[in-house]
Amino acid sequence: MENSDMKWCLVTGANGGIGKALTSCFVENGYSVIATDITKSSETSSNIVNLQIDLERIVLDEAYADEFKSKVDDITNDKGLTALINNAAIQILGNVKEVTRQDWLRSMNVNVSAPFFVTQLFLDSLKSNSGAVVNISSIHALQTKRNFVTYATSKGALSSLTRNMAVDLGNAVRINAIEPAAVSTDMLRAGFEGKEEQFRLLEAFHPIARIASPEEVAQLALFLCSEQSSFIHGTCLNATGGIHGCLSDPD
Ligand SMILES: NC(=O)c1ccc[n+]([C@@H]2O[C@H](COP(=O)([O-])OP(=O)(O)OC[C@H]3O[C@@H](n4cnc5c(N)ncnc54)[C@H](O)[C@@H]3O)[C@@H](O)[C@H]2O)c1
Repeated sequence: MENSDMKWCLVTGANGGIGKALTSCFVENGYSVIATDITKSSETSSNIVNLQIDLERIVLDEAYADEFKSKVDDITNDKGLTALINNAAIQILGNVKEVTRQDWLRSMNVNVSAPFFVTQLFLDSLKSNSGAVVNISSIHALQTKRNFVTYATSKGALSSLTRNMAVDLGNAVRINAIEPAAVSTDMLRAGFEGKEEQFRLLEAFHPIARIASPEEVAQLALFLCSEQSSFIHGTCLNATGGIHGCLSDPD
């Protein structure tokens, strides 16, 4: 394929449950993917380039960020990105009284500041390739539960960042977010091992009677990067199977 015909998508957190589905989905739909993660990946494929990066360092160390950008320029033959999926996040649980400065700042760096600075890093090519950015936020941006204060605050900020960046970016690059409720990743399922009844109750609590698959989130991200969504900009799309409308008061 000619370099000018290639479409490059960069996915952060590519080794995680949703990251793997994003990578496969974009590859299956004609993109070449730069799959980035803090952990090393041994998976190889002709349309996937793995890159080990620490998003917190991208935020805190400008030289490291510039080096990352140069690597992406080399990989793409200076074509740059057509799609950027800010998917990586960390979820540190703890009550307001327990959260440490280190946990708070790390969460904000990885979950909010990294999507901002990674997007900033690739704006020029995203603009020249008529590209799009998708931030993977969460239902926790709007509704949360006890001990999620750090994660939920970071997701609230990520959704807000999406709306605010759209105003500034104007017609240069579209940016949107997805706010999923529970997604059936290996890690989530492992957390329910031996607790089948609790998992069944979780599914039943969703009006749609199940939780999302990683592929459903990936398909939505693909849509938000496609021509079919050309007027959607600065939107935070919920993907919750209807649970965002449910009160949890006892009946
Ligand atoms: N799984 C769910 O139920 C669910 C629901 C709503 C939203 N989300 C969101 O979806 C996204 C993906 O979630 P997931 O379930 O696949 O999580 P995951 O933990 O499986 O994957 C996250 C990935 O991010 C990487 N990562 C963490 N810190 C990093 C850093 N400093 N630099 C680079 N990479 C780093 C991890 O190594 C991991 O591979 C997250 O933004 C999460 O908040 C998940």
